[in-house]
Amino acid sequence: MGRGKKTLKEHALAIQKRYRELNAKEGFQTKEELDAYFFYRTPATQAALRKVLAHLEPNRHKTALELGSGPGSSYPVLKDLFFEKIVYIEKEQGFQREYPDVTWVIRDFLEDFIYPKADLVLFSYSLGELLAQEQLDAIQKAIDAMEKTIVIVEPGTPHGYETLMRARDFFIEKGLHINAPCFHTAQCPKKGAGWCHFSVRLERSKMHRQIKGGTLGYEDEKYCYVIVSKEPPKKKLFTILDTPKIEKYRALFNLCTPNGQKILECKANNKELFKSMKKKGWGEMLDSGILSSVDHFKNDLL
Ligand SMILES: C[S@@+](CC[C@H](N)C(=O)[O-])C[C@H]1O[C@@H](n2cnc3c(N)ncnc32)[C@H](O)[C@@H]1O
Repeated sequence: MGRGKKTLKEHALAIQKRYRELNAKEGFQTKEELDAYFFYRTPATQAALRKVLAHLEPNRHKTALELGSGPGSSYPVLKDLFFEKIVYIEKEQGFQREYPDVTWVIRDFLEDFIYPKADLVLFSYSLGELLAQEQLDAIQKAIDAMEKTIVIVEPGTPHGYETLMRARDFFIEKGLHINAPCFHTAQCPKKGAGWCHFSVRLERSKMHRQIKGGTLGYEDEKYCYVIVSKEPPKKKLFTILDTPKIEKYRALFNLCTPNGQKILECKANNKELFKSMKKKGWGEMLDSGILSSVDHFKNDLL
């Protein structure tokens, strides 16, 4: 590993330590830290964002506003989803990169100003850096700016979940519709019983491994999220809350429902269904079409 990269690794470790100790408010201290952040965090952020934004209705969103955009990690993900115009609001000057179709606004989004309107308003790993009241102030301004949807993504930790629950309660109070991972406004079934989060596996490049100091060729990024819209969701989709238990004669799925967590059982004698259900994983969603072909617990679910 060259000298430059060693430095990058040291900077990455310093940032990691601050985030673990929840001192992210201190911000990035040097240009090298900004670069280190870009190299060590962007792949995982993008992997989580791809998973989350895949739940958006295709081709409905053309403009995006991201609050606390960092280096614009979301850019390739948004472009792959055909976003045409993106506004990034970020307080750190050094993160600004040249991307077509992007307007950078370098300022603190907690300052007193009206956010530009956009189909999608995104907080990606930024809300949890704020104090509780600041979070709600920023969310209120995001609600005023949203044309269609707000998405919040946070680390899949108890702190990230707590941030999301505060936001979810606020959205419900404001009469907005929760789309995912739950389609309902009942209490989160994971409250008091762990925390709702998901996981995405991504490959680590050689450089990524060197910066992170790990030997594995992959990492699992844990994240949690909420998708909120002005319109009610078109479909009621039941999210699989944990890794399904696939056995020889049956598969068991722990689902998020308005009536709490419910275990759905799919028996192997229902051959076609069993074959397709065996492929479903943690975080995937099941629509009520599939549910109606499974006899077990279906009355409990709706
Ligand atoms: C953990 S980084 C996430 C960056 C990017 N969204 C991503 O997912 O990779 C959080 C970012 O939010 C920015 N941020 C936090 N509070 C902010 C505020 N009040 N105004 C503007 N930017 C803010 C930080 O400077 C930092 O770049």
